[in-house]
Amino acid sequence: MIMNTASQTASPAPSGKTERSEPAPARHLPPGVPEGLVLHPRLLTGERREALLAAIAEAVREAPFFTPRMPGTGRPFSVRMTNLGPLGWVSDKARGYRYEPLHPETGRPWPAMPALLLDLWAELSGFPAPPEAALVNHYAPGARMGLHVDADEEAKAAPILSISLGDSALFRIGGRRRRDPTCAFRLQDGDVLVLGGKARHCHHGIDRILPGTGPALPTIIGPGRLNITLRRVTHP
Ligand code: SIN
Ligand code: FE2
Repeated sequence: MIMNTASQTASPAPSGKTERSEPAPARHLPPGVPEGLVLHPRLLTGERREALLAAIAEAVREAPFFTPRMPGTGRPFSVRMTNLGPLGWVSDKARGYRYEPLHPETGRPWPAMPALLLDLWAELSGFPAPPEAALVNHYAPGARMGLHVDADEEAKAAPILSISLGDSALFRIGGRRRRDPTCAFRLQDGDVLVLGGKARHCHHGIDRILPGTGPALPTIIGPGRLNITLRRVTHP
């Protein structure tokens, strides 16, 4: 676990010989990230990672990716989305950002939240009630996400847990105000980022994907990056 505190220790100096089985060296968050931002580098590997990818591929069969649109302008996002769990985040021209129990195109309920995501939330969130939405974002090479604050949830005290799979991405985070200074760092396959404390209400986004830097995603998803964010929506 890497926290933005002064107490973090330096990772051991790499030995001359590196074997494939050695864990990746710890990556540190840059100085200046908001309080409450915690990175667990490569927390999801091996069987747990494979099981999650299989669950997402299965969910995409039942609840295909849709392209959300900006409220007002109707401009499409470059990211495609779907959800798992009782609620899902959607956005369209007429009604804007919100959570809905049904897929906007199929009209069916979202697929169930897999137990392994509930377990990960219990492990890392420190929040007593389970997440209600797992928002799945697919970034094809070239997709990005502008700076925003996640503010459509009533449960403002619950953190957001963010899982990265596939290609690496340049993640940017600033402060509560859009004009606050920002800093950026890479998110890689298997990383889990917790946005808690002050960081929960800070502007963040994805500058760009770094194509070809991560393992291939399942064919039904295609090339690029997956990001899964776990969210508590309603007051418990
Ligand atoms: C988001 O802010 O909803 C997505 C962040 C990410 O893709 O890492
Ligand atoms: Fe977000």
